[in-house]
Amino acid sequence: MPAECAWRRLVSLSLRLLLVIPAGLPVRSQVEAQSDNTVMDNITVQQGQTVHLSCSQGDVVTHTAWLNRSSILYAGEDKWSVDTRVSLVTFNRDEFTIKIENVDVSDEGMYVCAVQTSSKPRTTSVHIIVQVPPKIVSFSKDLVVNEGSNVSLMCLANGKPEPAISWRSHSIQDDDVDLDDEYLEIPFVSRSKAGLYECTAANDIATDSKTVKLVVNYPPRVFEATDVGVTLGQSGVLQCEADAVPVADFEWYRDDRRVFNGLDGIEIKNAGAVSKLTFYNMSETDYGNYTCVAINKLGSANTNIILYEVIEPTSSTLLQEMTSSVVEQTANEYNQLWEGPGAVQDGNSGTVGTYTPLCLIVALQLLLAF
Ligand SMILES: *[C@@H]1O[C@H](CO)[C@@H](O)[C@H](O)[C@H]1NC(C)=O
Ligand SMILES: *[C@@H]1O[C@H](CO)[C@@H](O)[C@H](O)[C@H]1NC(C)=O
Ligand SMILES: *[C@@H]1O[C@H](CO)[C@@H](O)[C@H](O)[C@H]1NC(C)=O
Ligand SMILES: *[C@@H]1O[C@H](CO)[C@@H](O)[C@H](O)[C@H]1NC(C)=O
Ligand SMILES: *[C@@H]1O[C@H](CO)[C@@H](O)[C@H](O)[C@H]1NC(C)=O
Repeated sequence: MPAECAWRRLVSLSLRLLLVIPAGLPVRSQVEAQSDNTVMDNITVQQGQTVHLSCSQGDVVTHTAWLNRSSILYAGEDKWSVDTRVSLVTFNRDEFTIKIENVDVSDEGMYVCAVQTSSKPRTTSVHIIVQVPPKIVSFSKDLVVNEGSNVSLMCLANGKPEPAISWRSHSIQDDDVDLDDEYLEIPFVSRSKAGLYECTAANDIATDSKTVKLVVNYPPRVFEATDVGVTLGQSGVLQCEADAVPVADFEWYRDDRRVFNGLDGIEIKNAGAVSKLTFYNMSETDYGNYTCVAINKLGSANTNIILYEVIEPTSSTLLQEMTSSVVEQTANEYNQLWEGPGAVQDGNSGTVGTYTPLCLIVALQLLLAF
């Protein structure tokens, strides 16, 4: 154990200095042969905390000291260390205790209490282990990439013991990539990989985590639109939806002419992924073949919507329709009456009029006129 040998040598050297042992004496062998060395349990302490170092004294102690490696911190009540974090707690016949406040990683190591009695020297050593909670010190900033790029997210953390890194995201599965590496590599990134990525650094003491947002750009895809029928003089809406990142801009064309917002009772309204072209008062010339084009910086896509006329039943056409349907029904009953069961009916019979009593039509027309 070279480390132990090293500190023993240092202790003996320090004791030699402290106790002013004549240089000629074989101190080293004396200490090793006759000293009583105790190794205490390791002290584990978190960075920033205070640690107490205590050793028992006993009878006829002539000299005593606490050492940090080769340097004496306290020789009896006398402070040798210039470090303000080090101070004396107890010094009496039984106990010699000092404390180190605001412990840092550099304080880690072996501390030795050397006691010189009238009979033989004695040392008590203790190893201080300083733990540091994890801290993510270097982390990727929010990232915007184009689909197909190779993405690398970074998460570097400090801590003692060395923290373990793990990545988590709703956008990624375990088998896709290595989620336990400081660098999360996503080759040929697809749009489904966009989202939040959380990195967690964990050790025995605590965890630290940070989240980065990944945006994946891709060209527009326009959803198939349905054709729209509108009655003359009514209002009508053509609707176009596009999936794109960044959000698409929309352009509307009728045949090859651009249609602009505010033109003759036309309004174009874009809200996120949807564009609406509204006609407030449909005119004959509005009907036609419209094209919606969705554009972002990665490309464009389009779809065609036919705006066609719907003839709305007016009161007179309504009357005609109702009359003919009632008449048809009546005629069918009449036919059945005469042809008897088993007769096959033709629903679209063009001969309705011939079987229908004229008075019935007149009565119905009178009825409906009110
Ligand atoms: C104390 O810590 C040292 C260094 O980490 C280690 O080698 C040793 O085994 C520990 N001793 C005990 C008793 O835990
Ligand atoms: C102990 O020694 C190390 C190495 O010289 C030093 O960095 C550290 O500050 C010392 N700690 C105390 C409490 O004296
Ligand atoms: C992405 O990485 C692959 C290898 O993993 C490489 O072949 C390709 O050229 C890289 N693409 C870019 C855009 O760097
Ligand atoms: C719709 O347009 C027609 C023909 O241009 C016009 O006569 C009518 O008053 C308009 N209707 C409305 C509600 O503006
Ligand atoms: C509408 O116009 C597009 C081109 O502008 C054309 O490809 C499409 O066939 C047209 N649709 C109809 C029904 O005419």
